Amino acid sequence: MPGPFRAVKISEHVYWVGAIDWSTRDFHGYSTPRGTTYNAYLILADTVTLVDTVKAQYRDELMYRIASVIDPSEISLIVSNHAEQDHTGSLVSVARAVRPDRIVASPMGVKVLARHTHGAIEVDPVKDGETLSLGNMDLSFIETRMLHWPDSMFCYLRADEVLFTQDAFGMHLASSERFDDELDPALLESEASKYFANILLPYSKLIGKLIGRMGGLGLSLKTVAPDHGPIWRTRFDWIAGLYDRWWKQEPTLKAVVTYDTMWQSTALMARAIAGGLAAGGASPQLHQLRASHRSDVAADILESGAFIVGSPTINNQMFPSVADILCYINGLRPTNLIGAAFGSYGWSGEGVAMVNDALKEMKVELISEPLRVQFVPDEEDLAGAWALGETIAAELKTRVG
Ligand code: FEO
Repeated sequence: MPGPFRAVKISEHVYWVGAIDWSTRDFHGYSTPRGTTYNAYLILADTVTLVDTVKAQYRDELMYRIASVIDPSEISLIVSNHAEQDHTGSLVSVARAVRPDRIVASPMGVKVLARHTHGAIEVDPVKDGETLSLGNMDLSFIETRMLHWPDSMFCYLRADEVLFTQDAFGMHLASSERFDDELDPALLESEASKYFANILLPYSKLIGKLIGRMGGLGLSLKTVAPDHGPIWRTRFDWIAGLYDRWWKQEPTLKAVVTYDTMWQSTALMARAIAGGLAAGGASPQLHQLRASHRSDVAADILESGAFIVGSPTINNQMFPSVADILCYINGLRPTNLIGAAFGSYGWSGEGVAMVNDALKEMKVELISEPLRVQFVPDEEDLAGAWALGETIAAELKTRVG
């Protein structure tokens, strides 16, 4: 009878030995309604090599999958392509169990792992462009600093034409299928774009450079093996093409209207703005912040041309959920956005000005003065909100090629 956790062969010498996390719904503040996977890979070379490990609580699943192929003590080399704990949480425990001859990481990975493990393991640096002999085949390293941590790197197994890309080209998607061609492309695009928006967007320019560099390296690729989600064996050119579109953040006619509301006045304004956007030919996407998760707003912003934010004023402040989204989106550093601030207020009305300032700080090009309405908007106020939507739609049309 097969064991419960089997390895999956992905190329002549490489097995997937990761773990499937069906239950996580929050990945450091990013909503993961479909769970995720922590992918790790076993290379059956003369020097048996493990590429990455898994989150701490999935350590046994990893070890069972390795044991379904070889005795884990045969592992001589562990490569840590990325030190974040979803890939290294079990590293110390795995290293103690298999006693590899060597653990390697990028030079920055050595420093990060020293801080994570407090000296429990010894890690050697491998440099960008370095190649290690695994006996009957070679493994080469490509530093991908800040994609998305300072330690991040890829490694490439020329013998099987497999590129191991840690978080890049990954997505949070738990499934029994291991390969891209076994899953719906619309699902892959949706989850990959959400992943890009929430994890990689701040480093967009570096992704543009990486895509250029990969082209220059001329690697033959049969398989691209990320650390989350499916393994690319048929559609890598497609996902690479999407990355090439996403990093540029070119404006579209999509306009994200994000708001919160206390007594529906700011909500009424949001819906009037959305009406004006649609009438002007734009495509509004509304997010009421106690109904939409911040990571879903970020996913929508990835391919938008406008970010329009509304808040009531509460205790002389913007609404807390609006402060949350502005802080989060600011950190993701989106570019090429136009926008405006709006909202209702009772007596002091500082909230909308605060939103306006926050949009300026994130370099959203404001094309209108903040739109404020005292207490409940009347027909004239709503006509003004509608007109704001139409103005933004007209401006978007001038920017979309
Ligand atoms: Fe999947 Fe950046 O860790």
